[in-house]
Parts: sequence; C-alpha cells; structure tokens
Amino acid sequence: MDTSPTDHRIRNVVVLGGGTAGWMTASYVAKAFQGTVNVTVLEAPAVPRIGVGEATVPNLHKAFFSFLGIEEDEWMRECNASYKMAVKFVNWRTEGEGEAASRTHKGKPDHFYHTFGILPNHERLPLSHYWFADKQAGCTEDQFDYACYREPAAMDAKLAPRDREGNRWTNYAWHFDAQLVADFLCRFSVKTLGVTHIQDRFTEAVRDERGFVTALKTETGRTIEGDLFVDCSGFRGLLINQTLREPFLDMSDYLLCDSAVAAAVPHDDEANGIEPYTSAIAMKSGWTWKIPMLGRFGSGYVFSSRFTDRDTASADFCRLWGLDPDSTALNQISFRVGRNRRTWVKNVVAVGLASCFLEPLESTGIYFIYAAIFQLVKHFPDKRFDPVLAKRFNAEIETMFDDSRDFIQAHFKFAPRNDTPFWRENKHLVLDAGMQEKVDMYRAGMPVNMPVADESTYYGNFEAEFRNYWTNGSFYCIFSGLDLVPDHVYPAQALRPGDAAGAREVFAGIADERDRLLGTLPTAYESLRELHGK
Ligand code: FDA
Repeated sequence: MDTSPTDHRIRNVVVLGGGTAGWMTASYVAKAFQGTVNVTVLEAPAVPRIGVGEATVPNLHKAFFSFLGIEEDEWMRECNASYKMAVKFVNWRTEGEGEAASRTHKGKPDHFYHTFGILPNHERLPLSHYWFADKQAGCTEDQFDYACYREPAAMDAKLAPRDREGNRWTNYAWHFDAQLVADFLCRFSVKTLGVTHIQDRFTEAVRDERGFVTALKTETGRTIEGDLFVDCSGFRGLLINQTLREPFLDMSDYLLCDSAVAAAVPHDDEANGIEPYTSAIAMKSGWTWKIPMLGRFGSGYVFSSRFTDRDTASADFCRLWGLDPDSTALNQISFRVGRNRRTWVKNVVAVGLASCFLEPLESTGIYFIYAAIFQLVKHFPDKRFDPVLAKRFNAEIETMFDDSRDFIQAHFKFAPRNDTPFWRENKHLVLDAGMQEKVDMYRAGMPVNMPVADESTYYGNFEAEFRNYWTNGSFYCIFSGLDLVPDHVYPAQALRPGDAAGAREVFAGIADERDRLLGTLPTAYESLRELHGK
C-alpha cells in the first residue's frame, strides 16, 4: 500500500446517521472501494429515524442491491417488501372529501396509473401520440394508461408482476419498511463489508483552519477522525447546515405540503388481496399515500399546514380509513421542502434528508439517496479535494432535485380540482422556466424528454436513466391523467397517415398480451405469500 507523503487517497469516511441514507451510503462506499477505505457509521439510537412504510422506483435493485451482490428475494424477505407496479392517482379530478374509492369522472372511475418502463415507439414516434390522434378523431374511448400499457388491467385485478414460475414480466419497484431496510443494511455492512458501527450521540465537529471537519465528538467522549464526512443526520443537517452553515433553500413556493400524519393500518390480505401499487389519494389540503405490505398498509396524509391544521388533518386521515383517532398511534411529521444550496461543501457531503426533500408523491426519497451515492463514488475526491469534483457533484444533485420538484409541482398545478383553498392556491404557483418549456412542448404535440435508452437498457443504465428520469411516458401518464392533453396532434403525424395502421397493430398486441396475462398470472397476494414463506 502506498503510504508515501504523496499518497493523497482518502482512508477514512465517517457517516453521521444510521437511517436509510446512512446505511445505504456506508454499504455502497465500502463495496465500491473494495476494502481500501475504512467506513464508520455514527448513529444515536435515541434519535429516531424517519422510517415509515416506503415506496421506491424500479432501478433500486440494479443500481443498489445488485451492486452490493444481494439477491432481490433475499432483501425483499428481510425488509417485508411487496411489489409496486405504479402509482395510482385517485380522485385528482373530482372534488370532495378524501375517499379511498375512485369517484366517477366523465363516466369512468376517477383514477389513473403512472406506470414504469418505456412507452413503445412506432415509426420513431411514441405510442402516446397515436393514442392522442385516435382520441382526437373519436376512435378511442380508452384512457391513455389503459390503452398504451398492459399493466393497469393487471393492477386492477391485483395480480403480481411475476408469473407463476417467479419470472418478472414487467418493470416493478417495491414497498418496504424503511426501518427494516436500515437494520438489514447495518447487519450486512458490518458483517460482510467491515463497516464500523458506533452507537453514540454526535455533539460537535472539530475543524481545521480551512474549516474542514477533522473529527466528530460524541456524548460519551469519543473523537472519531476522518478524511471525508457524509452527513446523513436527517432533517437536522447537523454537519452541512448546523456546522458548516450551508443554507437550505426553501422551496415552499413550488410545493405547498410541509407536514404529514401517518399510521400503519391493519389489512386482511386474504379477504381483499394486496394491491401491487402505491396509491396517492387526493385530499382537501394535500394527498394520502397508501403503501400495501403483507398484513397491513402504511399510509400518511401529506398536507399543507397553511391550509389545514394537525387536528383537522388527523381527523380527515382517520375518517379515510375508518380509524379511531383516540386509539390509533399517529405519527406526526413536519418536513422541510427544498435542498441545500450546495450539498457537498469542503469535506462534507450530505445525503438523504440532510441533503434535500420533497413530498413522496413519486417516491423519490430513496432514489435521491442512491443517486447521490452513485454520484459521490463517481466524483470521489482525494485529500486535496479538487473543487471541480464537488462542483460537478453539486450540479448533478441540483438538476436531479429540481427536475423532480418541477414535475411534482405540475401534478398539483394541472389537477382540475379547484374546490378548496389548497387546490386553488396551487393554480397560482408559477412553474420553473424549464418545466414551462416542457409543458409548452407537450401542448404543441411534441414528445417530451424522449428516452435516450430503449426498454431493454433503460433500467440497466443508471447514467442514462439519471439524465432522463421523467420520460415522455411519465408526462403522458400524469398530464393526460389530469385531463391535460395537447392542443393539437403532432403536425408531422398528419403527413404520415400510413403509420396509424401500424400503430393500431401495436395497440392490438398490447390488448392481447394484457388478456393473456389476466388469464395466467398469480395474484400479488399469492406471489408474496410464497416469496415470504407465509
Ligand atoms: P433519518 O431521519 O431516517 O435518519 C437520521 C439518522 O441520523 C438517524 O439514524 C438518527 O439516529 C441519526 N442522528 C440524528 N442526530 C444524531 C446525533 N446527534 N448523533 C448521531 N446520530 C444522529 N422516500 C421514498 O423513497 N419513498 C417514500 O414513500 C417516502 N415516504 C416518505 C414520507 C415522509 C413523510 C417522509 C418525511 C419521508 C419519506 N421518504 C420516502 C423519504 C425517506 O424517509 C428518506 O429519504 C429516508 O428514510 C432517509 O432518511 P435519512 O436516513 O436521511 O434520515
């Protein structure tokens, strides 16, 4: 090993915080650097993690668990994981109280799915465009998601994303208990990757003359020295915000929700089946997530404290699920919305809630964590801390976060609901220029964010996905689901009438495949019981 004075390699990485972010960071960094870097996690057991039942996105396995060498079924069992094939948006068009069942909108149930995967192309134009042309011509009554994807019908029937032999037939993500994920990764990191776990409370940071952190001091008198410090201390941002005083940029002028009331709700899986999707149910001052797992579902009403108070939100939440407010343990959460101005400052990098947060409408929190760690490993410094690395890293995180913020803001902006001050206020908020440009493109009939990869490679190429996260299919799912359609058909399409017949064959193929799946797949309940051995 090179230990000469010119050896600038980072030797000691200290992670402050042992929530999902802390353990994902520790395991990933330890694995990436093959034992050449000592990784220490400092976690205060007395300071609880956020850890609710959480929903994810499909690249989690390939980009993270597979990188660690952990099989999908193994971590699913350890974390009580279930399947997620989409986010189902319920009652985002019709006005009224929070209601789990879809109301009726234009003769159909008021729900739509935001599915995963890449929309098929036909003659270099995504299927969305043929669906819209057919809709304009009065040739289809189908909603976009039901016409263009096989999955919605299977989700309505609560079927599994794996067949009876256990093979996946579609892209899916997972729901899991975030506490179990952190515990599992803690065991794995300590046992398999040699990560050091210290259970103690951080009290202050020691800094050198440049302001770089050199050590963390703890309640019991320990001094933990390091070269690079990763702040995973949650919303407190103990190193990045409190020690280094990096400002957190509040973005409540884009997104109004800042609070949640959450609980685990018991569920009779045998009688009702297990829904293989996350639901996002529109409420009077926000929305409620429903994350089904075996035997229960995690749920939380995400609301804006400007438009309702905790007591009213708790009562609305309990009414939604028929819970007794006096005997139900409700988890009351306040959150900050936005990101740090810079998430890597000097030798401190923030990951997880210490870095950025926006409401979990599209399940981006855990994705933000492993995307940040991926970028950290890509831009990993040596002890000279070349500022170019931090600058590039910060630019990536900024784009990642701001893109998602804008996409989520558009959900509220274009929801037709206008029945409460919350929904009305969302219509007044101004979209960022980049998002407005995408909306303009959509309205002009153009594809938005056409994927740079195809279906077979999209989830296998994290870099490509990272650069092109919300694809044309995502925009169509959400916008058309909210009744926002282009002003007119893509002009060039009208000059190529021959393509429409071929597209109809693609639609017919999707319908045939959907029917075949409906007749052959196991239910999500059956598949999960087998997987979990229950
Ligand atoms: P977290 O707060 O969990 O952990 C902080 C850690 O720091 C703890 O281990 C604590 O002990 C430690 N700590 C604090 N002070 C300390 C001290 N002085 N000394 C030592 N240690 C200290 N994401 C997603 O992908 N899908 C979803 O559905 C949701 N849903 C969701 C709902 C709500 C309401 C919220 C607020 C968040 C989500 N998220 C989410 C985001 C998700 O919860 C989050 O990204 C991860 O759980 C990561 O959390 P952290 O580890 O960053 O913080």
